[in-house]
Amino acid sequence: MRAGLLVAALIASIAGTAWAQGASPYTVVGDAISQPLADKPGDPARGRAIVANRSVGLCLLCHSGPIPEERFQGNLAPSLAGAGGRWSVAQLRLRIVDGARLNPDTIMPPYYRTTGLQRVAKPFEGKTILTAEQIEDVVAYLATLKE
Ligand code: HEC
Repeated sequence: MRAGLLVAALIASIAGTAWAQGASPYTVVGDAISQPLADKPGDPARGRAIVANRSVGLCLLCHSGPIPEERFQGNLAPSLAGAGGRWSVAQLRLRIVDGARLNPDTIMPPYYRTTGLQRVAKPFEGKTILTAEQIEDVVAYLATLKE
């Protein structure tokens, strides 16, 4: 890595740590994050609302899912139907937190990463797209989608 890049990465990570709004550290083991990010267990109903909401989760921009009231759904990504059958809770958590860990070329946004992002508008610097609680809600909802 070039020195300039290294410095930029360091500054980004320090800034990320200092400014993150309640971003808690997490540990990736294999393709999963087994520790919940928040103290309280996620709420599937709130998670569903986040997934369905076009200005919060944006999930349906790319994915379709068993959310019949939302008419226009994406076809750029696998359907969320059955996601809870394909993946464990810990695997789902990493896929929402930072899917680029599994596929560096993915177009899916890293919903709980504050570092290494490019072109972040000032007000969003050091902030995650979703909060720890929202991540847990979304994971809890996806875990219910067994088929
Ligand atoms: C900009 C497009 C985009 C958005 C927005 C997006 N995703 Fe994804 N997602 C993808 C793509 C593409 C994949 C396929 C994995 C890859 O890219 O390698 C994926 C993979 C996944 C997977 C694993 C799918 C499987 O079963 O194999 C889950 C679960 C998932 N996304 C959930 C979500 C949720 C929940 C949201 C909203 C909080 C979301 N995604 C937002 C594009 C997106």
